[in-house]
Amino acid sequence: MSIKVNPFKNNIGASISCNLKSLEPKTINQIKEALNNYGFVCFRDQNLEPGEYLKFAQKLGKIKEYPMLKDLENHKGITVVERKENDKGKSYGEGWHTDSSYLDKTPKYTCLMGKIVKKDQGQTLFASQLASYDALDQKTKDKIENLVGVFSSAGPISVTRLEREAERGTGKSKDFLAEHSIVKKVGSKKTLYLSPGHTIAIKNLGEEESKNLLKFLFNHQTKKEFQTSFFWEKNTIVIWDNHSVIHSATPYQGRRMMHRIILDA
Ligand SMILES: [Fe+2]
Repeated sequence: MSIKVNPFKNNIGASISCNLKSLEPKTINQIKEALNNYGFVCFRDQNLEPGEYLKFAQKLGKIKEYPMLKDLENHKGITVVERKENDKGKSYGEGWHTDSSYLDKTPKYTCLMGKIVKKDQGQTLFASQLASYDALDQKTKDKIENLVGVFSSAGPISVTRLEREAERGTGKSKDFLAEHSIVKKVGSKKTLYLSPGHTIAIKNLGEEESKNLLKFLFNHQTKKEFQTSFFWEKNTIVIWDNHSVIHSATPYQGRRMMHRIILDA
């Protein structure tokens, strides 16, 4: 059975209607193809128990350990991403970033499922890095082609997980520093792989040049024209390709809880 993929505006993200409890291998390939084309895909009304959610994710890739927080009890591989009623700081993940880019082996996909979501309770912004790379002028593309970024787990986004780390932290929050090419290949296209949340320098450039180039690229990659705003509902599952999009939570109040799984391709 073929699935129906409905792209959002400017082909940034797409919605897919299907039942994730029973998928044929062919359908998984279609989902991956949609991820290659649109960067992120969403599925509404998926009433999966944690065990079923893990089973689905395993069909997409190898489940990866998230080093910062302890897993959901009895369900290794699921991270609880939560804002509590009386939390004071920013929302978890508020600020542009791509997940766990401070690891040597970074996750290709992230799956996020709405478990407790009230109406109008925050959105996730996605910015297509297929589109942002495409829009760079040739001179900049040539300049950055072989550059390597330095990524830190203590980058600016790290403050948004402090309240959860206080409860469920593994104590490793400042331990990770990695280097990655800032231009990646996804299918036949290229993308920008960096973010204000984790990228702290460009390797082999002077401090000033590195700072100026990052400032330019951060400003470029987060332009409105590359963005889609996605609203959450209970039982919505979103999957994104961390090599194709960067994302940011938006501020909201009250308790919201999601289950997250990160995957190697
Ligand atoms: Fe994130």
